[in-house]
Amino acid sequence: MKFTAVSALAKRPKADLVIVPFFKGKKQAIPCVSMTDLNGVINPILKAGDFTGKEGATMLAYLSGKKEKRLLLLGLGDEKKATLETLRRSFAAGMKRCQGKKWLTVNVVLPKSKKWSLDDITSAVVEGMSLSCYVFEEWKAKESQKLFYIKTLNLVGAKSTKVSEKVSGILSGVNLARDLINRNALDITPQALAAEARKLAKQHASVKAHILDKKQIEKEKMGLLLAVASGSRIDPALIMVEYRGAPRSSDLTMVVGKGVTFDTGGLNLKPTNFIEDQRGDMSGGAAALGIIKAAAATKLKANIVAVVPSTENAIDSRSYKPGDVYRSYLGKTVEITNTDAEGRLILADAIAYGQKRFNPSRIIDMATLTGAIIISLGSVRAGLFSNNDKLAKLCEQVGEETGERVWRLPLDEDYMALLKSDIADLRNSGKKRAAGSVTAALFLQQFVQKKTPWIHLDIAGTAFLDSPEHYHLTLATGAGVRLITSLIEKL
Ligand code: BES
Ligand code: MN
Ligand code: ZN
Repeated sequence: MKFTAVSALAKRPKADLVIVPFFKGKKQAIPCVSMTDLNGVINPILKAGDFTGKEGATMLAYLSGKKEKRLLLLGLGDEKKATLETLRRSFAAGMKRCQGKKWLTVNVVLPKSKKWSLDDITSAVVEGMSLSCYVFEEWKAKESQKLFYIKTLNLVGAKSTKVSEKVSGILSGVNLARDLINRNALDITPQALAAEARKLAKQHASVKAHILDKKQIEKEKMGLLLAVASGSRIDPALIMVEYRGAPRSSDLTMVVGKGVTFDTGGLNLKPTNFIEDQRGDMSGGAAALGIIKAAAATKLKANIVAVVPSTENAIDSRSYKPGDVYRSYLGKTVEITNTDAEGRLILADAIAYGQKRFNPSRIIDMATLTGAIIISLGSVRAGLFSNNDKLAKLCEQVGEETGERVWRLPLDEDYMALLKSDIADLRNSGKKRAAGSVTAALFLQQFVQKKTPWIHLDIAGTAFLDSPEHYHLTLATGAGVRLITSLIEKL
């Protein structure tokens, strides 16, 4: 989809449709441009009281003698209550109204409000419209493909295409993550993720890929990653992708993403109704690659290294066994009390190895880590854990701005009692089910060295959905890409 900028309504090109947004209860549209050309059509509709501007509401009217054949009124709800997320959702609803209509060119009048800058408004509108256009059509019959036909969106009131180009760059990262997550587990293997990393390096001079294969992982003695991988015929990989957008700076953010390409639970097998979505257990890893893509596409002035430990958690005679003990890369030993608590194991080795190899300024890990976070927060917010108040606060703020909201949970020492083992330094699952997301995060924290600022995001509830929500379809959302790219930009 192409975006253009048009400075005034009179200058808009011919199109199939014009979208005009409204805040609720306003007697007039408050777009950022003069509406003289269309007021004659809009005012009678408003006078009749048929369209009130309720959030996400739409009304289609037909025009004659205008540059477009059709006009779509789009409700933005109460201006006082509105946030940038309201704009994303409303414009996504407007986009859905165009679904399958063969309207190729659409003029979109940007709304105006003293609450936000024009750039913020433009970003939100473009995000809502673009995010809602994603389709995963690999398995769809040809006829039902290409639900969206829109080719050109002319943003009436936008200053330039700078903002829409930046948003499109970031969303290319979101959609990379969505595609990787949605595809079959046996297609998106650790090797396929590694190939994706190499592809990013090939596409951008600022990106380098380093991959450790099974032999190298053995040589490095990453005992926890190898333990999880032992039950799979498919080899594990440790995928590292470096993006240098600020080569003169020594600042480096390490983004670690869980890359379990399918989580059966291992010998502690997951039951029916809990196993079906587990090809999405590499969502954190996919997001980490998406962040590199977004950063490279937008030439972000920052240095980032993505580290993705990737393996299947499968069942075999050679699977790691409940009760056994393994030694981590860092040296700490772990009693396996549940083979389904595999994410924290591979992340522990990746965090420790990545920290030693790259000496990052901060560490952000993203993982579909616990079912417990879905019980706590559902799909509305991701769980945030951190050893650093400043970094956590900034992440919370960016969460509100991007609409990828987070909620901070505690890491009190007291919870460590649940991870005490009689045979090893740690156990991998809590003694009780209590505080399942907290014990998982505390486990990870044991592998972060030197008090380096660290954030753990548990995205099990937000990375893939069981029904469509706002600008996301069912399954992969690409959670984490917009949030972390924006967080790194702000640092
Ligand atoms: N991949 C799962 C977490 C998950 C559950 C993600 C549902 C997405 C949807 C993770 O590896 C897991 O199985 N966690 C266990 C930990 C427990 C055994 C301590 C869980 O949450 O049940
Ligand atoms: Mn598991
Ligand atoms: Zn898992």
